[in-house]
Amino acid sequence: MTFYEQRAQRTKAFQEDRFGMFIHWGIYAIPARHEWVRSLEQISNEDYQQFFDEFNPVHYNPAEWAALAKKAGMKYAVLTTKHHDGFCLFDSQYTDYKATNTPAGRDLVREYVDAFRAAGIKIGFYYSLIDWHHPDYPAYGDAIHPMRENEAYKDRPENFDNYVEYLHNQVRELCTNYGQIDVMWFDFSYDDMEGEKWQATKLIEMLRELQPTCIIDNRLGQTNKDEALLAEPPFYSGDFYSPEQIIPSQGVTDALGRPVPWECCMTLNDNWGYVAKDKNYKTAQNVVHMLVECVSKGGNLLINVGPNAKGEIPKETVAVLQEVGEWMHNNSDSIYGCGRADLPKPEWGRYTQRGNKIYAHIFERGTAAFRFDDLQGKVKKARLLMDGSELQLFEPWYSRYQPGAFVDLGTADLPESMGTVVELELK
Ligand code: GLC
Repeated sequence: MTFYEQRAQRTKAFQEDRFGMFIHWGIYAIPARHEWVRSLEQISNEDYQQFFDEFNPVHYNPAEWAALAKKAGMKYAVLTTKHHDGFCLFDSQYTDYKATNTPAGRDLVREYVDAFRAAGIKIGFYYSLIDWHHPDYPAYGDAIHPMRENEAYKDRPENFDNYVEYLHNQVRELCTNYGQIDVMWFDFSYDDMEGEKWQATKLIEMLRELQPTCIIDNRLGQTNKDEALLAEPPFYSGDFYSPEQIIPSQGVTDALGRPVPWECCMTLNDNWGYVAKDKNYKTAQNVVHMLVECVSKGGNLLINVGPNAKGEIPKETVAVLQEVGEWMHNNSDSIYGCGRADLPKPEWGRYTQRGNKIYAHIFERGTAAFRFDDLQGKVKKARLLMDGSELQLFEPWYSRYQPGAFVDLGTADLPESMGTVVELELK
């Protein structure tokens, strides 16, 4: 089997799931000014320590998070087991900088795994390749390390091999102690910190051995180099491409024009970690439209939540995801297992397709009888997906001006304002 075929096989279920929850959570939820706060404000270890000493998420109840993900129609989740600040939500034997040593006093990753697995949601781990706490991670002169300009760090002896060993050890723990892991999400490579600097081939070999069905993102390589899109990508390019905060215009294809599995990760407001003042939330309609857009281009959508220091998902986030869930309750058949339709993008919205079913996602009602331009004579039946009701197909006399498959939507407004879906069964 070629690499291309192997990857297609490994990512099959992932590409059917289409919708996931990203969870950015750590002690940065206390300063609540960005998950990069240590780097942005160049905060020392000593000054950052207060947040470790205080971290006590008394309302952490991952069963509630899982219920929300399930309600929203999400099939998998990805939790930050360690972010760039180096703080580990899991009980690692290789560091003291972990949740078990904070007032939380327990392995928060284990509770997440248990709760999400019990809810039937697949388990993903985000793991930061970057580490601003580890003494052997390059600090002075680095592009983003909090101590990059601190002269006191200039001659600090750093043994990067020690750090790489630490990274590999922790990934082994994550792949050994929590049962089946479905997604491994490394983040991220920059400058010369990329690929074999992380001993990426060895890392992936270990991962494939410990978790043969787990799929891996592409950030062991540098995303701006697009190595993952070469006809023969490097081994460490993983299984899927990970555009951040953007949905590529044409989906993602490799140098030979073949589709590449991809997942767009997107914040729900303007930050990944909890930011108290950031109320710039997207609406449920935005989320539905983004999800449909991703699927129509053959990709997944990973929507982020940033729980606060007490362990709660912000109420604005909950409201949006619940509303998305109402739409998914009616329309998820047009998402799961669906992908690109072999039709041009229509004026009024987007198409998705699974087998001989085409899903017309209508975002703009337009006027008069509703028409599918490219499907004249090709449709066997049409149903409104929200309630399964028949939409009669007909051929009006005025189709001489513009042929197509016509249906009678019967209303001046769209039956579902967030997105009305018509299921078209092809002949
Ligand atoms: C990034 C950021 C980060 C976030 C991530 C999500 O590159 O460093 O804070 O975790 O992307 O995709």
